[in-house]
Amino acid sequence: MKKVLMTAAAAAFVLGVGVMAPADASAKSFNVKACKACHAVPKKKVGPAWKDVAAAYGDAETLAKVFKDGFKVDDRKVAAADGKWKKKAGMMTSQYKRLIKGHEDEAAKALFDAVAAGKI
Ligand code: HEC
Repeated sequence: MKKVLMTAAAAAFVLGVGVMAPADASAKSFNVKACKACHAVPKKKVGPAWKDVAAAYGDAETLAKVFKDGFKVDDRKVAAADGKWKKKAGMMTSQYKRLIKGHEDEAAKALFDAVAAGKI
């Protein structure tokens, strides 16, 4: 009887960990695919082409710093240079809060990696 109980406890433990690990991992990780809804590397979609974004920032560290400083509209190089994008900055602000905050380095690197690969 004691052995049965121990086995059940061990099984519950394994199941519990098995169920929780993926949920936990997805909440903590950054997924660049979410950006594809509005961005592409070679051309503009809802947001600017990432090749133009990468050209404006120059490197991932510079972009990561702007993300870390709160991604203020006045600090955004693309929106600051073009009023057409500035008008849509609110749309990107909500994506920043939802997807990028807490993953600034990863997000900046993912953008430059996508540009190097030619696609998101
Ligand atoms: C709902 C649409 C939408 C999604 C999803 C989205 N963006 Fe954007 N993004 C925009 C728009 C619109 C702009 C132009 C306004 C602006 O620059 O703030 C933009 C601009 C940008 C800029 C340039 C900011 C500037 O002005 O210098 C960066 C960098 C960026 N997005 C990164 C990302 C990343 C990384 C993701 C995925 C985590 C993402 N975006 C997801 C709509 C979106």
